[in-house]
This record gives sequence, structure tokens and C-alpha cells, in this order.
Amino acid sequence: MTIETKKAPPSTLVIFGGTGDLTKRLLLPAVVNLARAKLLPEKFAVLGVGRRDYSSEEFRAELTRSAREIGSIDTKSPAWRWLAGRIDYHKGDFDDPAAFRRLGEALETIARRHRTERNVLFYLATAPEAFPVIIENLGAAGLTDEKAGGWRRVVIEKPFGTDLDSARALNRKILGILDERQAFRIDHYLGKETVQNIMMLRFSNGIFEPLWNRDHIDHVQISVAETVGVETRGKLYDKVGALRDMVPNHLFQVLALIAMEAPASFDADAVRTEKAKVLQAVRSYDCEGCLDNVVRGQYRAGRIGRQAMPGYRGEPDVSARSRTETYVAMKLLVDDWRWAGVPFYLRTGKRLAAKSSQVAIQFKQAPLALFRDLPGDHRMVRNFLVLQIQPDEGVSLQFGVKVPGPAMTVEEVNMDFSYRDRFAMPPSTGYETLIYDCMRGDATLFQRADFVESGWRVLQPMLDAWRDPRAPGLAGYAAGGEGPKVADQLLARDGRTWHTLG
Ligand code: BG6
Repeated sequence: MTIETKKAPPSTLVIFGGTGDLTKRLLLPAVVNLARAKLLPEKFAVLGVGRRDYSSEEFRAELTRSAREIGSIDTKSPAWRWLAGRIDYHKGDFDDPAAFRRLGEALETIARRHRTERNVLFYLATAPEAFPVIIENLGAAGLTDEKAGGWRRVVIEKPFGTDLDSARALNRKILGILDERQAFRIDHYLGKETVQNIMMLRFSNGIFEPLWNRDHIDHVQISVAETVGVETRGKLYDKVGALRDMVPNHLFQVLALIAMEAPASFDADAVRTEKAKVLQAVRSYDCEGCLDNVVRGQYRAGRIGRQAMPGYRGEPDVSARSRTETYVAMKLLVDDWRWAGVPFYLRTGKRLAAKSSQVAIQFKQAPLALFRDLPGDHRMVRNFLVLQIQPDEGVSLQFGVKVPGPAMTVEEVNMDFSYRDRFAMPPSTGYETLIYDCMRGDATLFQRADFVESGWRVLQPMLDAWRDPRAPGLAGYAAGGEGPKVADQLLARDGRTWHTLG
């Protein structure tokens, strides 16, 4: 069954950080893809806001030039021409209240010119330090006020805080000015097809849900492995590290979708309530628990394919004595009735052998080796359900079959479904659905305040434990390798191994 997707309502997209990398590489290409898919209304406009001294014309020229240089948009396409005619620029410092009053006037003019009905989506594509002041100034200038007609929404990029206190403070700031339904805390992992498919797979099929619990599942592995290093982000990343960069957002989103109960409906709050409950149920470790169940590493020099790669400490803008982790793995327990006793192992790292994000669910083994007295190899089979998020999105199920021949020999095989084999996959940055949903006011795929804070509640003791004198140092791993040995030991002590990535 296909559902006809409706055009988004008339609106103006205001991008703070309009000249930044995120805008050029992901946001504008996503808007172009939406235009190509005919999901944007005629009454649509984009307003870039930044500190640079551009006219609207110069801004459009700069976007066109960089799009060609990066290859992010086909600037000859009708979709880009359509969009470019609707792009303007507003110069202003984020901490200058007068710039926001002028922004209000600019928005009125745009609303009249493009008939966008005073609906405005403010997108904070800036450095995180600027989030509070922008939100404050939007509020002070009355720009988040919906009383005069039209909706006002704010998209807040990651990182959402750097620890529990800062995340709480940011939520307080946001909710002092906006209603929760106006706040869209974005996580681009939720724009990925297979991540969204987790809910579809679980709740539209009859066969998985009866098995989806502690009676049948041995453990779950969630992995996000990257081959990239820190690229040009050394300065920022060195202050952040793998745990803050990836776990409270991307990995916890996937964890919540895998572990949540079925919501009462597909309403945004019903779904988000169930997701938040998962994080509330994750056991919070004391210092010892953290040191036992969380390991970290940093890449050393190595090779990916034939290419020699520097170690993390040799990357541009990274301290030569950096103690920032580029890899983290942990064992978590979700203390609720469905999952009691089922470990969830999470891992993420940079400069690993393969780029692969996946969820591997291992089911419990058959209770008895029935064929044990017959000739042949009949070791106990492992049943994995693997949800491959990227690349090559798909689902595969591993089970044992009999090898043809007289002996009762078993072999593990995979039944694979690949999105690419079945569906035409339109070009996507992952932001399309998310921007479209914001314009339609659907917050299902966005993080609610309680989710974010529950995530930090779990992670804060880990950050604290790493400052403890008993904390072991960073484990090294070779760039292009499988990650540090300590991560393998984390599973080995439970008699388990990581599922192969890729
Ligand atoms: C970002 C992180 O949020 O996600 C990056 O800041 C990381 O460090 C990226 O590389 C991974 O996203 P994706 O979509 O490439 O898996």
C-alpha cells in the first residue's frame, strides 16, 4: 500500500548559520530533494541568517558556488532554480537583540512576498554555544509568539548539552520561551530509513513481537562504526569525544526504538513516551559499575586499505597529549519486565575497518542439541536478526540449515532483504523527512526533553567515573582495525562476541 504524501504547508525556513557547513552540505540539498519530490508548497521561502556581510544576491551566489564545489546540489536542476528564487539573506549577530527585531520585519516582508502565511521554522544550524542566546532573542523579539497567527517552530541541532546539567539548563531555557510542541530537537539518525523501519518491522508484523523479549532474546548489539577520523573537526571533537558525540543521541535513539513497548497510537507523544520510558529503565551505574561496563579507546596510526592513517593525536587541531576517546563500548541493562537480564551492548568508534551501523539481535539457542549423537557437525546454531542501518540498508536473519549429504551437518546461512534490491532509493541526505515533518508539525521523530535528560542521567556517571583515579587509561587501537581489545573482552567475559560488521 502506498500513501500519497501531501505537500508541506506554506512556510519560511529561517536558517541560523546560513553560511555554515551543515547548511551547505545537508540542509539545502535536503530542501532541494524535497522540492524535487514536489513536497514543498509554492508559498515557500528560505532566509539565511549569519554574521557575514552578504546581500541576498551574494548569498545565493555563494550557495551556488559552494554547492558546485562540494557537488552537493545539481545547480542546473529545475529544483535548485525554483529554490534559489526563494532564498534571501539577513545579516545579524546572534547576540544582538536589534538584529532580531529587524529579522521580524524581514519575515513580515517575506510572508507578504511569498504568501507564507506567517508560518516560520527557525533552524539553529550553529555552534551549540549560540543555541541559548538565539532562543532568548527570538523570544524577546516576539518571534516565537503564535498569537498573531501562523505557527512558529524551532529546530535545535545536536549536541544537546555536554552533560546532564547543561542539557537540563538548555531544556529550561527552551521551555521558558517555547512550548514543547514548538521545540524540535533533531537527531539525523531518525531520518534514516532503517531506523524508521525498526518501528515498522516490530509493529506491523505479527512474527517478531512475540519473540521480542527476555524469554527469547539472548542479547542485543548496537554498533555504529565509522572509517572516517575527525576530518576538519579536530578542535571541536577533542572537547567532545565519542561518548558525547554519538551515544546520547544516535545510539540511544536506536536503543529506544528496539526496546520500547508498542505505543497506544502513532501519535508523537505516545511514541515518545514509550521511548523515554526505555531510557528511564536503563540501569544507572555507580563508579565501579561504570569502570566495569564501559570501555574507551583512541586510534593510533594504522592503515585503511592501502592508505596510511595518522593516529588521533596526529590529526589537525588535536592535542598531541589528547585523552579524548574516539571509541566507546558499553554494556547496559534495561530494568523493565520485557528486558530484565538481557544485556544491550553498544559500541561506536572512528577510523575502524568498515563503515557500518547495525543492530544485531541474538536469539536464545535451541534448548537441546538433538543431533549430538549423529555423525556430522551439529554445533549449536546462533540466530541473529540483523538490521543494517547503513550502508546497504536491509534486514537479515541468520539460521542453521542442513548441509546436503549423508551427515547431519549444520551450517549458518542468512536470509537477506536489501532495500536497494526492492525499492528505488531517491537521493537523500537523511534530513528530508525531518525537515518535512517539522513543517507539518509532526514531532514523532524528534527528541523530547525527558528523553534527552534520561539519556544524560545514564551517561553522567560514566563521565564522572572517567575522572576517577582508578579509571584505566585509554586503550589504543590501530586505525583501520576492529577497535580496542577491551571491547572484545567486555563481551568475552559474558561468553559472547561482537557480530561482524558490514
Ligand atoms: C554526527 C557526529 O552526529 O554523526 C559525527 O557528530 C559522525 O562525528 C556522524 O561522524 C555520523 O553520522 P552518519 O550519518 O555518517 O552515520
